[in-house]
Amino acid sequence: MRIILLGAPGAGKGTVAKLLNERDGSIQISTGDILRSAVKAGSELGKKAQGYMERGELVPDDVIMEIMETRLREPDCQKGFILDGFPRTIPQAEALKKLLQKLNMKLDLVVNLDVPNEVVLDRLTTRRTCSNPDCQEIYNIKSKPPEPDGRCKKCGWKVVQREDETEEAITKRLITYNEKTAPLIQYYEKEGSLETIRSTSSEEIVRLIAKAIENRKA
Ligand code: AP5
Repeated sequence: MRIILLGAPGAGKGTVAKLLNERDGSIQISTGDILRSAVKAGSELGKKAQGYMERGELVPDDVIMEIMETRLREPDCQKGFILDGFPRTIPQAEALKKLLQKLNMKLDLVVNLDVPNEVVLDRLTTRRTCSNPDCQEIYNIKSKPPEPDGRCKKCGWKVVQREDETEEAITKRLITYNEKTAPLIQYYEKEGSLETIRSTSSEEIVRLIAKAIENRKA
């Protein structure tokens, strides 16, 4: 499948993307994960992105488009991809449209994960993430805890709270989402490619996404 996952911070995009990947092998492309790995590695990209991320602001569109063009040209994307956290602005959506045309690729669906605000806030403060840049498994101290000693169940690295998980950065990320990213819902609705899913069960969301794609192909 080739899909975009839209949704507020904490809506569960990363969790759903990982389940979809297990289901049919489509590659999860998370711009947030790519940027966090770059920050950890201290690369040029990481240095450019770090300040924006810690403040809960968006990294500039040109930086993101360079990452995405390189990533989407990689051969594994032929299997299908799940865009998690991209696009996040109208200019990114416009640039993605041109890029997909250039690569001769077509999207199957844009999914809007609609989760109530209070759920999102609770999930963000209780989320933990594997510190291994090659793993980045997502945990939650309430709904999906790591090993009792705080290690990742998949790779054994320490599970930590993200740098942008401070109350101030979370508030800023939610404001940024409403201002810059929420307008994409209307944008893709007008294009006829949007499906809004209201569920707090990730497994149910995965089932509904697969069904929506099937229905559109029928
Ligand atoms: P990014 O990493 O994309 O963060 P985000 O969009 O804020 O999304 P999150 O990762 O916070 O949440 P999620 O929806 O993936 O939820 P998750 O599955 O983890 O971006 C970080 C930063 O990078 C941005 O602020 C920006 O600076 C920069 N950036 C990234 N992309 C960019 C772009 N395109 N342009 C510009 N800048 C960009 O779930 C959350 C928690 O809930 C977890 O603990 C999970 O276990 C739990 N949970 C999930 N589903 C369920 C469920 N069904 N039931 C119970 N618990 C659940």
